[in-house]
Amino acid sequence: MLKKFERYPLTFGPTPIEKLSRLGEHLGGDVEIYAKREDCNSGLAFGGNKLRKLEYIVPDAIACGADTLVSIGGVQSNHTRMVAAVAAKIGMKCRLVQESWVPHEDAVYDRVGNILLSRVMGADVQLVDEGFDIGIRESWENAIEDVKAKGGKPYPIPAGASVHKYGGLGYVGFAEEVRAQEAEQGFAFDYIVVCTVTGSTHAGMLVGFAKDGRANKVIGIDASGTPAQTRAQVMEIARRTADLVELGRELTDDDLVLVEDYAYPAYGVPSNETKEAIRLCGRLEGMITDPVYEGKSMQGMMDLVKKGYFPKGSKILYAHLGGAPALNGYSYAFRNG
Ligand SMILES: Cc1ncc(COP(=O)(O)O)c(C=O)c1O
Repeated sequence: MLKKFERYPLTFGPTPIEKLSRLGEHLGGDVEIYAKREDCNSGLAFGGNKLRKLEYIVPDAIACGADTLVSIGGVQSNHTRMVAAVAAKIGMKCRLVQESWVPHEDAVYDRVGNILLSRVMGADVQLVDEGFDIGIRESWENAIEDVKAKGGKPYPIPAGASVHKYGGLGYVGFAEEVRAQEAEQGFAFDYIVVCTVTGSTHAGMLVGFAKDGRANKVIGIDASGTPAQTRAQVMEIARRTADLVELGRELTDDDLVLVEDYAYPAYGVPSNETKEAIRLCGRLEGMITDPVYEGKSMQGMMDLVKKGYFPKGSKILYAHLGGAPALNGYSYAFRNG
């Protein structure tokens, strides 16, 4: 589906699929749980889902003659950390706007984890006191203008690389990769569980799995806390991406499954249940999830398994999208383990 698009390799190659046997047994043993380790996909600054997206965006940035990648996220954004890493790797400058998307408890929240790594990699980091919003932000537009005013050639990458014209392509590739791995393994997955916020990860999967009739087997767990906006953004990106890859069929609202029950109390703030899911996953599988994204999708998947949402015998693929560095900003929540 992606042959006609230029790809700049930033990842190691296909990501491993690992069975989470102890977690599956702990949850009753009625379903089999596997994880696709997107969190281990690259040597670039701990990797994660943004690199699959950026692989299809970087060729455009280079072709435009840009010299500065300009992007935006919250203070502990994984995405901005990945943009900083990619800028370093391709020899560009990096300008990052980090908004106050999360009310936080840790005194060092803006010094550790993702933002620390972005600073180490030489990004020009600007803290802006604005609240959470996955849409286009004025602070980001101002940063783009500022780079121009100083004589630079900015290349704009929106939050999560999502509403970029090529933002959905990377996770179309994920679906194709899963199909190839299924052929090798001799079985197919019945469900794919993914954390959804700015939307292009889910949207790309939706398009990629629509190819074999599994669009609505992609179960998005909302972590934005603004699900109406996220839902609309996923559909918009999915439709645009479907046109780009010439999917050959219209996507409908029924193709999109977004579970809204686990984002509470707010974006970036872990509930007690999210913290429990993070601990359980760590203690049963040694697999690290974070309080903003994967902890919430892990909590959602565990709860749905317990509620019998997945029929007995289902094989579930949990997409682990990365994000562990943000844990450093939540040391207070885990001060007693
Ligand atoms: C670790 C992690 N998981 C999940 C997501 C959600 O992906 P998306 O923004 O494409 O919906 C993100 C980024 O926002 C992320 O950094």
